[in-house]
Parts: sequence; structure tokens; C-alpha cells
Amino acid sequence: MDEQLRRQYLEAMGITSWLFRQPDETEKLVPPPVEAWCQEKAPAAEEADSPRLDNVAGLDWAALRERVAACKACDLHRSRTQTVFGVGDQNADILIIGEAPGADEDRQGEPFVGRAGKLLNAMLKAIGLDREQVFIANILKCRPPGNRDPRPEEVLRCKPFLLRQVELVAPRVILAVGRIAAQNLLQSTDPVGRLRGRVHGFGESAIPLVVTYHPAYLLRSPEQKAKAWQDLQQVTKFLAGKESPKPTG
Ligand code: URA
Repeated sequence: MDEQLRRQYLEAMGITSWLFRQPDETEKLVPPPVEAWCQEKAPAAEEADSPRLDNVAGLDWAALRERVAACKACDLHRSRTQTVFGVGDQNADILIIGEAPGADEDRQGEPFVGRAGKLLNAMLKAIGLDREQVFIANILKCRPPGNRDPRPEEVLRCKPFLLRQVELVAPRVILAVGRIAAQNLLQSTDPVGRLRGRVHGFGESAIPLVVTYHPAYLLRSPEQKAKAWQDLQQVTKFLAGKESPKPTG
């Protein structure tokens, strides 16, 4: 059967035949010269996704959360179950900053939900606050494998997210829990024992910042709970306006 007749039969049966179209001369794709391909270096995946300050500036909560969830700026995205953005009252007076998600947090997508989290909740209760009344975030949004310490480059890559959270919450006081949070926020190598007990200033606007022990450390060293209690008292006194509002360095 000749081709034309075959098409007529198919059309009569309601069957559309797909034909390869011959491009005309003007449509033919002209590949760019090889030199141009070599010059146009594609950014590395990690580079392209890096959360620089300029690409989180001005983001609202929803957009920031999305940016965090999609982040592949460091290798931690490979091992995470999910990102752990932060939780709580977005207009809280107190912003609590911890270190990084652990196994429970990685699984549930919420900071401080494991044993340390339970103790943190109890510590907050002791100063008359529910967890929902503060905002809780971490230095890192992804879990470091095996709960190792965050690496400097991971902290650096994640920092814009936290800084934007600080801007959005605009807390009256920041409570840094543990060495990693305190040292990174204050750019210090001093141990918690030396950083606690006074009010620091965080960032350009010198947001009052109090340092205390990490609840996970308090679980291992309950004898230090009295000092953590003093730190929390300092926060409440500060919020009640009984503490000097001037941070000391
Ligand atoms: N430890 C932290 O520092 N943050 C969490 O979210 C959980 C445990």
C-alpha cells in the first residue's frame, strides 16, 4: 500500500499519524563555537545553592523556610532526613539558639525534641514560660552525622539563615545554649563557664545575649543546674526591666 493511501485510511479511522518534520534552513540549530562553551563555566552545585546574605535578605518567614528546606550549601544535605528550621512564637521576646539538630530533631523536623529538649522545656517552665512562647533555632539547620561538632564552613554557610531569623523575630534577648552556640554567636573561644554570668551584645544592634549551659550537658552534669537556673533568672530579670539594659561587651 502506498504511503498516501495508508494515511487516508488512518485518518478515516480517526488515528493521527505522527510524522518527522524536516526543519527548514532557518530553523537549523547552530551550535555555539567551542571556545564559548569553555568560557562559560557552570557554577558548582554547592556554589549555586549557597545561601549568601544577599539572597535571604528581605525574605519573609515562608520564603525563608522554603530556602532552608531546599539548601544544599554544604554536605550535610546529603545525610539529613530533613532540615530543622526552628519553632515557636515568631514575635517572641526570647530567642533560644542551640547547636544543631540531633537524631530526634532530624527525624521530627523540630529543634530540641529529644531528652535535651525535654529538659529545656522544664527550664523554661521554671521561669513561667511554655515552649510555644519563645522561638527556638539552632546554629545549623541540618544534623551533623553522628552528632559531631559543626564544622566552621557549615556554620558559615548556615549563618545567613540564622541572622535572618534573628532579624525577623527581633527578640529582646537571646539565650545561647551551649558552647557551640555561645562561641559562634560571640566569635569567642572562651568556654561557657567564662561567657555566662553577664549580658553580652549580639550583632550590630547589640541585642542582649545571655549564655548558659546546654541541656544535654546538664543531663550529664546535673550539679551545674543551679548555675543554669541563675542564667535563666538573669533573662527574666532582664525582661522585667530589673537588669541593666546595657550589654557588657
Ligand atoms: N541540641 C541542640 O543544640 N539543638 C537541638 O535542636 C537538639 C539538641
